[in-house]
Amino acid sequence: MSQELEIKRQLLPVQKKLIDETAPYIAIISGSRAGKTIGGALKALQFVTQYPGIYGIVTAPTYKMLQDATVPAYEKVFTRDVMFALNKTEMVADTLGGGKLFFRATTDPYKIRGITAGFFHMDEGADSPALAFKILQARLSQPGMPLQGWITTTPKGFNWVYHEFAAQKRANYAVLTACTADNCYLPDDYVDKLRESYTDEQFLLQELEGQFIEVGGHCPFDMKALNQMYQEAKDREELERELGFIYIYQKRQIAKRYVIGADAATGIGHDDSAFVVALVSPAGIEEVCSGRGKMSEAEFADILDKKSKEYNNAMVVVENAPVGKATLQTLEKLGSNIYKNKDKLGWPTVSTTKPLMVADLGDAVKDRSIVVHNLDIIEQFMSYIRDDKGKYHATGGAYDDYVSAFMLLIQGMKAIPVASAISITYGKTWRSA
Ligand SMILES: Nc1ncnc2c1ncn2[C@@H]1O[C@H](COP(=O)(O)OP(=O)(O)OP(=O)(O)O)[C@@H](O)[C@H]1O
Ligand SMILES: [Mg+2]
Repeated sequence: MSQELEIKRQLLPVQKKLIDETAPYIAIISGSRAGKTIGGALKALQFVTQYPGIYGIVTAPTYKMLQDATVPAYEKVFTRDVMFALNKTEMVADTLGGGKLFFRATTDPYKIRGITAGFFHMDEGADSPALAFKILQARLSQPGMPLQGWITTTPKGFNWVYHEFAAQKRANYAVLTACTADNCYLPDDYVDKLRESYTDEQFLLQELEGQFIEVGGHCPFDMKALNQMYQEAKDREELERELGFIYIYQKRQIAKRYVIGADAATGIGHDDSAFVVALVSPAGIEEVCSGRGKMSEAEFADILDKKSKEYNNAMVVVENAPVGKATLQTLEKLGSNIYKNKDKLGWPTVSTTKPLMVADLGDAVKDRSIVVHNLDIIEQFMSYIRDDKGKYHATGGAYDDYVSAFMLLIQGMKAIPVASAISITYGKTWRSA
């Protein structure tokens, strides 16, 4: 009980600012242990006591983080007579005045759909997908309620949180910053100890100061173009979702040319398989369908074959690498239209072809000659880096399977006649492999 009272009486400066801020969307961007989660919960408490009947959605990137950090912070801030016992199956708590708090992980953002809310709080928002933020924004429609959403997070490179809140000043969006040292409730030596344990200076600035920093390398893509691509994609809804992980933005059109880029994974371990179907024309490359998930190479090949047949016998570009071979073999058995390089099935990725693939995608992004609808793909572009050893990969715990799929798609497109039409339109020559 004493801790609950203590937290309510003594707000940290950034927590007070969050409570007073009236912009519809707010982000606390700060270092770890700066008081973000407690701050977010304090604002929720304020709304629950001020607006009887209000519904709030509270999210964390995973169910585990929700259980281990976010819910305990709410339980610390809300007394039992304000937030009643949490139903652990439904993850819903009734609140004083007839309101409800819905606790949700953003692993499948679609699970947030269907709730009408008066506010939302995304804890560690930068680790959640941009799609979750987009869906939450659309959930704010409870009549008579303040309709505010706030994110409390440590930055993750220049990902979507940067593009929403910090890339440019925007009406309706407010940013509040704080660093770990601002939290007077932490033990005196806490910051010094952290400083000792982190050797990477960039990472330290992100984790202690809450700064947007490129950790581990440099993104090879044009940030301004990515920002524009992101804003445009946010306005686009998919027509439908298939099998829970395939997003369809456009059905096939007669007599149009499509190419599929596919990055295969084994289905075991961390990596997902991903593919992108694009309409290629002299006007550029437009993603019309994409998907990623964990599956065997045979299952992946099956999906690719179906998509190829659905989209006018689209050419499928898969890497001819140890992982990818089984996909290629199955595709061959199915009689799919497979990309060949000098009569050999698949794209030959070696250390010398990777920079070329990245440069071609980089040009296409910069020239605005690609249109991407799936936010997940754009997020992967934002988190892609070239490290100081010259290697390309995703930063931190991010993925790069969509980036690989897109790069393969462009290489495949260069091999068909329509590609030359594109290079004429844009007045440039695609590098040849
Ligand atoms: N207003 C407050 N009154 C008292 N203690 C507080 C207050 N705000 C934060 N604290 C203390 O600081 C600690 C860190 O706060 P909080 O968990 O909100 O930080 P965080 O930025 O979310 O941390 P993390 O990076 O671990 O997610 C809390 O466990 C709590 O003990
Ligand atoms: Mg926290």
